[in-house]
Amino acid sequence: MQYLDELEATIRDMVHKGRGILAADESEPTIAKRFKAIKVDSTEETRRIWRRVLVTTPSLCEYISGIILFEETLGQKTNDVTTIPEAAWAQHIVPGIKVDKGKIPLALSPGDLITQGLDGLAERLREYKQQGARFAKWREVYTIDGHAPSRHGIEANAEMLARYAAVCQQEGLVPIVEPEVLMDGHHDIERHAAVTEAVQQAVFEVLHRHHVRLELMILKPNMVLPGQSCRHAEPDEVATATLKVLRRTVPAAVPSINFLSGGQSPEEATANLNAINQQAGSAPWQLSISYGRALQQTALQVWQGKAENIKSAQASLLKRAYLNHLAMRGEYQAALEEG
Ligand code: 13P
Repeated sequence: MQYLDELEATIRDMVHKGRGILAADESEPTIAKRFKAIKVDSTEETRRIWRRVLVTTPSLCEYISGIILFEETLGQKTNDVTTIPEAAWAQHIVPGIKVDKGKIPLALSPGDLITQGLDGLAERLREYKQQGARFAKWREVYTIDGHAPSRHGIEANAEMLARYAAVCQQEGLVPIVEPEVLMDGHHDIERHAAVTEAVQQAVFEVLHRHHVRLELMILKPNMVLPGQSCRHAEPDEVATATLKVLRRTVPAAVPSINFLSGGQSPEEATANLNAINQQAGSAPWQLSISYGRALQQTALQVWQGKAENIKSAQASLLKRAYLNHLAMRGEYQAALEEG
């Protein structure tokens, strides 16, 4: 493999006990939605300011080892000279890039979705690498509804993830492989577990077929949860169900599993991660985060688009990252939310 040394170095820089990944790769429509909630217009400049607030948070590197950026952000600067990827790496946070082009319905397969973006991927990755990206992220989405996702949908999505991951490793970027079974809907935790198991089992089978080196990738899965309009599950139940699926499907060669938050509240996402780490025993992989909303939500509310709130917003982000750092060690307590 041409870029083996680079890939190994990136994994070493990203996989640390007690550190996780900050997902700041919201597409333009998604960031506009987040900004609307705090009455901030989404412009190139407000997006630049917000991403600069995130990467320049003092001491963030103690708890965060990687940041996923959106294409636009890769070329933006924190000030006149430093680019945002450079600012991240200045505090030893590895910059990465979301490379998929979003989901569309899978043709002739009602209820299934498929993610676009494979055409020209190798060329795009070479450009992103020049701009400082050392890893990439691609998300496939599965909705539980009636008979969906179908077996065919699960296999088609696995194929996309594996082809993306193979191109990444060929070009020297560590792939984050993200199969997200949504928590939206009425399903119970058993159905979510069964679908997540089928999805991950298919993903690893196809990764193997496409010669993807499991030691040089990161898995970004959903936790196993009941649907949002079903009953609430306690952290211990979520942890037991999540670990059961992971143990059945994820080979020990994968160095790190970094969960997405998927619409859980910041407190819920931290408490569930804590329970997972408490129950994990001598699990072969690191169990960490790659949260978007669950890391940024409170900080965004503090910021409100105002320069005078930047320091407090950074303090809020740092606190959330610290609480998740404790959860990665199974040492989080809800009482710490108050301090
Ligand atoms: P959430 O943690 O908000 O689900 O975002 C993570 C992500 O990157 C989704 O692709």
